Amino acid sequence: MNPADIASWISDAQKAFSAAADLDQLKVARLAHTGDKAPISLASRSLGTLSPEEKASAGKLIGDAKAAIAQALASATEKLEASRDAKVLLEEVVDITLPVLRTHRGGLHPISIIKNEISDFFIEQGYAVEEGPELESGWLNFDALNIPADHPARTMQDTFFIEPVESGVVLRTHTSPVQIRTMLTQKPPIYVICPGRTFRADELDATHSPVFHQVEGLVVDKGITMAHLKGTLDNFARHMFGPDVTTRLRPSFFPFTEPSAEVDIFFNNRWIEWGGCGMVNPKVLAPCGIDTDIYSGFAFGMGLERTLMVRHGITDMHDIVEGDLRFTRQFGVGL
Ligand code: DAH
Repeated sequence: MNPADIASWISDAQKAFSAAADLDQLKVARLAHTGDKAPISLASRSLGTLSPEEKASAGKLIGDAKAAIAQALASATEKLEASRDAKVLLEEVVDITLPVLRTHRGGLHPISIIKNEISDFFIEQGYAVEEGPELESGWLNFDALNIPADHPARTMQDTFFIEPVESGVVLRTHTSPVQIRTMLTQKPPIYVICPGRTFRADELDATHSPVFHQVEGLVVDKGITMAHLKGTLDNFARHMFGPDVTTRLRPSFFPFTEPSAEVDIFFNNRWIEWGGCGMVNPKVLAPCGIDTDIYSGFAFGMGLERTLMVRHGITDMHDIVEGDLRFTRQFGVGL
């Protein structure tokens, strides 16, 4: 075991390690200079054949040589790993300023947004949201609401009748029949709102649409008065139009309420008619099985299109019904 040979194994290994251009080449060099068949490994294994004196000095030489080779390998590994990391950082860099392909998320129509907003407002106060069918019986749409057969709303002009006309089925002209459906199936106390789609034989123009939406409110409980109605409408109006809005009730007539009123709001410096309301007519309550000596109720109904138009200064109904995304996107996605 010649010290010169051992020195040359060290320098061969050092040269091979530092010549390696990347970690793959270093691995090949490592196997050649430290693997089982490397000269230093063969020499290490042959130590056992030496006499004890020789073994001591040769063992030290080989031990030192192994340490030197390991040291050379470690520093080559460190250098090559650092350059690999630097290269990866450069090659895999992400340019966060590049424009991306943007697909628009779907969104709700402003009518749906306002409907959800109203529902949330009333649900928070303990109301339930009721729905009824758009194809409604004439009896629920008219008769049960004390709208007599000769009432103008029942003529062909306003109502879409479903064929055969004798079926008595109509496209509901308002959400009020849901009041009847609710009272026929639930016992007071009743606190509900009924938002939904309604239909009238109108031409589509700037302020009318044959298909539109209303929200109905109905409360039946002990001791309900017009003060409760007024307070509820005040809160509702403030929620929809802002804290500064004022409401006013104007005497009016609806067959299903007595007394009846129009509710106006003072918004943007003028009075605007918002909807109808009143105390539920005992002629409507009683046939639904409600004891009018114990219970009284109020009701209100307003158009969602109208509410949206007033609040956002929309002057043309076409914008609401046509579904042009340039219009609807202004209201956000409202998911
Ligand atoms: N149903 C009425 C309409 O379509 C609106 C309305 C008025 C509803 C007064 C009510 C009410 O509940 O009390 O014009």
